[in-house]
Amino acid sequence: MPNIPHKVVIVTGAAHGIGSAVALAFARQRVGVVAVDIDSEVEALTRSPPEITSDHLWPVQADCTSTRQLSHLVSEIQLRWQRIDVLVNSAGGFGRWAETADVDDEEWERMITLNLSSVFRCSRAVIPTMSKQQSGRIINIASQAGVTPNPYAPSYVPYGTAKAGVLGFTRLLAKELGPQGITVNAISPGTVATARVRALRDTASLQTIAQQNPLRTLIDVEDCAAAALFLASDAARHITGINLNINAGSVMV
Ligand SMILES: NC(=O)c1ccc[n+]([C@@H]2O[C@H](COP(=O)([O-])OP(=O)(O)OC[C@H]3O[C@@H](n4cnc5c(N)ncnc54)[C@H](O)[C@@H]3O)[C@@H](O)[C@H]2O)c1
Repeated sequence: MPNIPHKVVIVTGAAHGIGSAVALAFARQRVGVVAVDIDSEVEALTRSPPEITSDHLWPVQADCTSTRQLSHLVSEIQLRWQRIDVLVNSAGGFGRWAETADVDDEEWERMITLNLSSVFRCSRAVIPTMSKQQSGRIINIASQAGVTPNPYAPSYVPYGTAKAGVLGFTRLLAKELGPQGITVNAISPGTVATARVRALRDTASLQTIAQQNPLRTLIDVEDCAAAALFLASDAARHITGINLNINAGSVMV
């Protein structure tokens, strides 16, 4: 297990799926995890594994696209723990496939706000604290869809565009914040069969993805959590501006 010297970790989108696994993985390391989600279900995290107590996991219901709510959240963390060592931006996703001609302005802007602007706003909210500390790690959950069009998916341009933006944002922010001792990296998962994705894909399409990639498997939420632990660890102290693809080899770039 990597050595995680960090003390306070914010994970967004922590009520479900990848964010939930990331939050629990950090909490098992006995750091303080602020598990943020718009869904009040995030409270359920503290009831899951018995070894995780409220000393290590603090669920907070907040909207990661709201600058006002994020500013309030950072003030609360300052009062409780006085520092922020890691931010994992996992809030995001989409709920349907659609050709671009069928996407209206409202849907486009909602997708860009949730999947790209939230990453900017959450990162901006923690920068003053991390800069003051002269240390910090920002880890963005991007997507294979932001690297290249998914070979096994119907069209959905707004999400892939937002995630491509997250990858660009990651590199630009890594350059800006490097002198302040802050690293910024991305993780790009391939398809993970979270409940959200199961609502979008039938079992046959998930089997196709597993059968056609080089490792003949589906990646899972724990693969993403392990990558986040690594990027937050001492072992990754000189890694910044990268995108870590986790996709069983389905896309190699
Ligand atoms: N599952 C996949 O196949 C896959 C692949 C690549 C990337 N990703 C990315 O990983 C992340 C998690 O995906 P997932 O499949 O676990 O989805 P999920 O729906 O299971 O989890 C997303 C979480 O974000 C929360 N959320 C949504 N809007 C929010 C907001 N405004 N503020 C705070 N929280 C909000 C949701 O309530 C939910 O708990 C997303 O960014 C997604 O784009 C997922």
